[in-house]
Amino acid sequence: MAEISRLAESFQQTDYPVGGHDKKSVQVLKRALEAIDGSVESDIYGTGSLIEDFQAKIAKYLGKESAVFFPSGTMAQQIALRIWCDQKGLKRVAYHPLSHLEIHEADGIKELHGIETVLLADSDRLIRLEDVLQVQGDFACLLLELPQREIGGQLPEYAELEAISAYCREKGIKLHLDGARLFEILPYYQKSAAEVCALFDSVYVSFYKGIGGIAGAILAGTAEFTQESKVWKSRYGGNLISLYPYLLTADYYFDQRVHKMEQYYADAKELAAYYNRCQGVATRPTTPVSNMFHVHIDAPKAVVEPLLVSIYEATGIGFTPYLRATSETTCYYEVSVGDRYAAIPKAKLQAAFQLLDEYLSASKSQQTHP
Ligand SMILES: Cc1ncc(COP(=O)(O)O)c(C=O)c1O
Repeated sequence: MAEISRLAESFQQTDYPVGGHDKKSVQVLKRALEAIDGSVESDIYGTGSLIEDFQAKIAKYLGKESAVFFPSGTMAQQIALRIWCDQKGLKRVAYHPLSHLEIHEADGIKELHGIETVLLADSDRLIRLEDVLQVQGDFACLLLELPQREIGGQLPEYAELEAISAYCREKGIKLHLDGARLFEILPYYQKSAAEVCALFDSVYVSFYKGIGGIAGAILAGTAEFTQESKVWKSRYGGNLISLYPYLLTADYYFDQRVHKMEQYYADAKELAAYYNRCQGVATRPTTPVSNMFHVHIDAPKAVVEPLLVSIYEATGIGFTPYLRATSETTCYYEVSVGDRYAAIPKAKLQAAFQLLDEYLSASKSQQTHP
């Protein structure tokens, strides 16, 4: 059995976990299944109306000609980049140093496809047009992740995005969107998904982040591009005989939540403001641009952990199940706001933040006057 930390254990017992939608349990599947007639025929190897209708629905939403459902975004995006490289006859792509492909996929893009990667920008900031202009030599595809998750979910100005897109088009560089959290950023940009996606040649979106399904992704683009992606999906072993548990939950929670992103975004701004009023706490970005942000605490992980446990026990509010050390004296965690936030009694939440502020102030003065 994996060892569970005291913080995670205490978090699990809280009445009001602050982030996300639900507990990660099979109830997520059961709820979606209750809404569907049991006689609906399953998808078979990527065919049948269950999968085809969902693909058509999301393609339309994204303003793309065609879309393919994948078991994972990891699979979908490696395939997208491979297709663009093959089309250009050049195995070279560019993306952010903290992109999912670079740090969470065990070098799949390099090991499976032999694709060279160019890392753009410093890891602690967003890619700008000038970074793209400075790349030496040609490349087949630029991948942009919106929002850039590992730096707190930051977003470029829309005009910067348009300028990058225009440059790529002019130079014959394909632009791919890692839109794992695309739905979540639309309220900030005040754009439709189709408007944002029109800047990109290919797009991946996820159904288990803000949407809250189990797993699953859509890859969208031209019919020619998605047809090619289906061949690679088979090569990857991703063309499962049936994907309907993922499909049904993706569709069900998409309908339930895609229109609630404005609410999650507003709630994230409110929550970040609570954090920023606490001693030694700063959110990144200071004002969120989606439902997510990072909480940076100017105190060591080992000091903060027991403070959080005391707060959880005293108030029933759970801020986070984990902390990551960023140095000997600082730590952080990620917050993604979902359905749970609105159900938390405000007085309880405020009491928890008051304690966080008091505890961190006391620990700071202990450090400075031991
Ligand atoms: C930005 C980003 N891209 C891609 C992925 C990959 O998605 P999947 O877990 O479906 O493979 C993730 C997953 O966390 C992600 O956050």
